[in-house]
Amino acid sequence: MLDRERIPRHVAIIMDGNGRWAAAKGVPRIAGHNAGMKAMKEIVKRAHQLGIAHLTVYAFSTENWKRSSEEVSGIFRLLITYVKSELKEMMDNNVRIRILGDPSALPGDALKAVEKAVSRTAGNTGLQFNIALNYGSRDEIRRAVQELVNEVREGRIPGDAISEEMIADRLFTGKLHEDCGDPELIIRTSGEQRLSNFLLWQAAYSEFVFVDTLWPDFTPRRFEEAIEIYQNRNRRFGGRKESI
Ligand code: IPE
Ligand code: IPE
Ligand code: MG
Repeated sequence: MLDRERIPRHVAIIMDGNGRWAAAKGVPRIAGHNAGMKAMKEIVKRAHQLGIAHLTVYAFSTENWKRSSEEVSGIFRLLITYVKSELKEMMDNNVRIRILGDPSALPGDALKAVEKAVSRTAGNTGLQFNIALNYGSRDEIRRAVQELVNEVREGRIPGDAISEEMIADRLFTGKLHEDCGDPELIIRTSGEQRLSNFLLWQAAYSEFVFVDTLWPDFTPRRFEEAIEIYQNRNRRFGGRKESI
């Protein structure tokens, strides 16, 4: 049973397996992404119901541009449909949308739809739903380093005083950006057990739950099961005390 008193504050999900789901059904890959979007809608609703503060989903990586232009444009078309169709429900549920990554490289209409959803929901104070779009953690760390170098050059911080906090603050998840901090729990579907350039810095002490379910088959019930697994973990942070 899920312990409602110990719901993680920030859950991140690598939504993987849409392509294999489609292949197993003998349908085009984009049909897999479409089914994946539907699964995502349900998980957002459940995250809201569970009182999770931050839900971060990996929707498109800096490496996903390597895919066919047909697949890439299909994914962004689905994203547009998603943000347009869900905006009202997000407003009703007090959900705030934020973007992790660099959306400026997105196709113009996708960028417009996303920016509209971000600005319309900006005043909402419930679930913060972070969509990692054109996100890569190495790129994120590179940007943070570049910002720090600029600040040192401008004399705003001393060059020999760089702290972990200063780096963390400048990541997309940090205080100077979306401010959602490190995820307690990272879930990856589809049986793959790797980060694929997701939250490298932030995952230092995250709990990982890998499930074999392909993303389009990942239900709210499965989501709760993953949180239950997390609740049974013994987090030590290098010390000896259990801290959940
Ligand atoms: C995840 O599903 C969605 C994105 C990366 C956009 P995949 O498309 O990676 O599915 P598989 O891994 O090929 O099954
Ligand atoms: C990670 O999945 C990116 C997203 C889920 C958006 P990939 O399917 O792109 O990762 P690899 O290539 O299997 O590592
Ligand atoms: Mg994949």
